[in-house]
Amino acid sequence: MRIPANKNLANKHVLLGVTGSIAAYKAAELVRRLRKGGAEVRVVLSAGGAEFVTPLTFQALSGNPLHSELLDTGAEAAMGHIELARWADAVVVAPASANVIARLAQGRADDLLAAVCLATEAPVAVAPAMNQQMWAHAATQDNLRKLRERGVHQFGPAAGDQACGESGLGRMLEAADITRHTAELFDTGALTGLRVLITAGPTREAIDPLRYLSNRSSGRMGYAVAQAAVEAGARVILISGPTALATPPRVERIDVRSAQDMHEAALSRAPGADIFIATAAVADYRPAAPAQQKIKKNTDTLTLQLTRNPDILADVAALPDGPFTVGFAAETEKLLEHAGEKLARKKLDMIAANHVGEGKGFEAEENALSVFDASGVIELPQAPKTQLARQLIALIAERYHPGS
Ligand code: C5P
Repeated sequence: MRIPANKNLANKHVLLGVTGSIAAYKAAELVRRLRKGGAEVRVVLSAGGAEFVTPLTFQALSGNPLHSELLDTGAEAAMGHIELARWADAVVVAPASANVIARLAQGRADDLLAAVCLATEAPVAVAPAMNQQMWAHAATQDNLRKLRERGVHQFGPAAGDQACGESGLGRMLEAADITRHTAELFDTGALTGLRVLITAGPTREAIDPLRYLSNRSSGRMGYAVAQAAVEAGARVILISGPTALATPPRVERIDVRSAQDMHEAALSRAPGADIFIATAAVADYRPAAPAQQKIKKNTDTLTLQLTRNPDILADVAALPDGPFTVGFAAETEKLLEHAGEKLARKKLDMIAANHVGEGKGFEAEENALSVFDASGVIELPQAPKTQLARQLIALIAERYHPGS
């Protein structure tokens, strides 16, 4: 069974730009459908768009405040154009009038939507809507060619009866079609058919039946990597320590607690995997002899004897004909040195290193990674973990299929 493409919208941030066209009324239905697919939607309404639909409609339907002004200090303080540009996983301009298409082609930054489109690294798509003569004009066609050459996606237009009484090309696609195309933006296909095994989250090492040793890993990076791998077409198994996170759509999740459980789960599945990505913050040590009953506080000091946990990543990397292995290195100092050493010692194909501590890494929403392999290092600058995960998956896919 083919899984409906709009499953890919789950948890995505879609910034919808609504510009001046009679088709703006269809954008209301589009907001509803994008949200139904699981996306969070914010709307930027251009001055032209506000002539056709009221800001209140979009505010109510999106469940978020509307964005319209570039230089409104109050609005910029709440969420400025740069923050909006970073927030977006995709920017969809629907309807895109001939005017906004021309403005985007020129790279203007004199209104909020144009500025966001310039500032974002997310994919941008336009769904043209205009009179058929305006559509056919060489200026419009030149502008669109320019946008496509720069990687802007074009959804439609369709042909048919137009509001102006004419008939021809220039009608905006229906909301259902734009929703489907938006979902497809996240379907990169770079890992189609591959089986990806991922570990994530912390482990808990029992001291007694009530207490454990653990760490501050939230699991967010690993869950984001699992989601990005699914979007890229992989079949994903996520072996997760205890976290508060929801399982990303289409990911098979196996819950474990201790490092030993995680080791067993990973080693039993690794032979069937093409790629193994170890994002888990596995406890290095566990209490050697966890107490069978609750430990009583009847001594002034208490000594716990710890014993080393197995290294899941190194054991998977050592498998004959094992998967392509990717490790993570969370370091508080000497990042490059330690990551390089780990790559060699654990015989990994790739390692993604990040600084932790001082608000970075473990519990943060954003991260930055230095990714090493035999050919050198690539820096992935600070970004939300979901976006960083997609960049990492793209790098892994590139290295897994060299030369493709
Ligand atoms: O040696 P270090 O713990 O810094 O290595 C980190 C990498 O090794 C991470 O990818 C982590 O998931 C993995 N690891 C593991 N099993 C362990 C310890 C670390 O898989 N026992």
